[in-house]
Amino acid sequence: MKILFVCSEAYPLIKTGGLGDVGGALPRALQKRGSQVRLLLPAYGAVMANAKESGVKLLLEFECDGVPLKLWQTRLPGSRVTTWLVDAPEFSARDGGPYTDSNGVDWHDNAWRFYLFSRVAEKISTGELPVDFVPDITHCNDWQTGLVPALLSRHKNKPATVFTIHNLAYGGIFNYDTFAALKLPDAWWHHEKLEFWGNFSYLKAGIVFADAVTTVSPSYAEEIQTPQFGHGLEGLLTHRKANLSGIVNGIDCQVWNPGSDSHLPCKYTRRSLKRRVENKRALQAEKNLPVNANIPMFGFVGRLVEQKGVSLILEVMQPLLAAGECQLVAVGTGQREFEQGLLKLQDQYPEAVAVTIGYSEQLSHWVEAGCDMFLMPSLFEPCGLNQMYSQRYGAVPICHYVGGLRDTVVNFCKSQLEAYTNGNLSLEQVDETGFLFRKPTPTALTECINRALACYQQPELWRKLQLNGMHKDFSWQHSCEGYMELYQGLLEG
Ligand code: ADP
Ligand code: GLC
Repeated sequence: MKILFVCSEAYPLIKTGGLGDVGGALPRALQKRGSQVRLLLPAYGAVMANAKESGVKLLLEFECDGVPLKLWQTRLPGSRVTTWLVDAPEFSARDGGPYTDSNGVDWHDNAWRFYLFSRVAEKISTGELPVDFVPDITHCNDWQTGLVPALLSRHKNKPATVFTIHNLAYGGIFNYDTFAALKLPDAWWHHEKLEFWGNFSYLKAGIVFADAVTTVSPSYAEEIQTPQFGHGLEGLLTHRKANLSGIVNGIDCQVWNPGSDSHLPCKYTRRSLKRRVENKRALQAEKNLPVNANIPMFGFVGRLVEQKGVSLILEVMQPLLAAGECQLVAVGTGQREFEQGLLKLQDQYPEAVAVTIGYSEQLSHWVEAGCDMFLMPSLFEPCGLNQMYSQRYGAVPICHYVGGLRDTVVNFCKSQLEAYTNGNLSLEQVDETGFLFRKPTPTALTECINRALACYQQPELWRKLQLNGMHKDFSWQHSCEGYMELYQGLLEG
């Protein structure tokens, strides 16, 4: 089976969040299981620089909508996945991020940049370009590639299209002038097509036109059909229900392996779990916190946006920190208000809080290996990867019961804790891996944290929860099989 995987991020070439993890890992997993995969990425400046090591060669130069473009070929580092990079100056000749400039402001021409990218995906998919590969499946991801299924719908001979929603909160929404400038078909300015409350949405284009729509966990697939989580697209998603499914993400178990992770001061496995605490001590020393193996340490790594429940963390941690009962190590970047909120907490409790504003690959691994509990009180979470990394690293996750967090963390509840404490539940009966709370309120999160802290005071129980998480198989194997079945179903018709 030939698969063109179209994505705006792929680790280790470029990553701003979980999309990058998936864009790097899923094509690799598919290829490993016998599919022929081509990964299509924009040739951002950072990508061109990172690709140098694997070697980059010019595959072709061509024109698209009157614009001269180049297609470069490289390999996704650490894999055999042939990767094609779409080069227009709008991608390659800019510093800053894939979607925003270095001040975090959206590039003014994002609609145009990702339209061009999508046009190239269309041309490859229909065999219009002289490359030695015409896909059976074109698999697109998030709004940046949402136009691809729409553009392909105009061709008789086209591959089957899959559109994966990683996050409904980012709609790729632009105005009518942009729609007109892109010369998209007039008929698409319709509420059953791309039009969306007086604007138009790239994400909606993908949902309307793809042969199959997927999202990254079964729970999120259900949730997005409701007004609470649907971002105005719940009606359409319900309408597409028969072709909508949730396939939970996997994690890259090579990159995220505490037994071989070069980012860690001290590597460890389930069998050498005792060594894990060295990472906590080293992290405390590195971040100028009092070095103390016994004080519970909470960790947070993530984009500092409303989705991640940062306000809840800020509110709930106050009293705990004031009581001197714990430490908090947070790493993230995003909205100013949340960055400042965390920094203020650090100013208030410099002995207990260490905040790193920025993006650090090393710290994101080290926090998973150093903290005792990983906080993920997201208001919504399509899948989430960090809670899976936590479990693999023996950090016990504390999460809101929502989306992929529901599907990947097994809750150790209050009655179980009581039963264990009273001697009515044996360690062998404990299969759980973390703590979940139902309502995204400070009260519910506080209860959950207190439950976790009570378990932490019982070292044998704590160790069992850690080992349960570390034992779980989050590899791409299952998810990859899910996608392969879906592709096969589409091809069989
Ligand atoms: P999302 O995709 O919504 O950001 P996920 O949990 O799916 O959330 O994935 C986030 C990914 O990005 C993880 O690999 C996480 O470690 C990484 N990440 C997020 N923020 C940072 C940061 N500041 N530094 C390093 N890695 C980060
Ligand atoms: C998105 C979601 C996250 C998911 C990731 C990869 O960014 O917010 O929950 O894990 O995409 O699918």
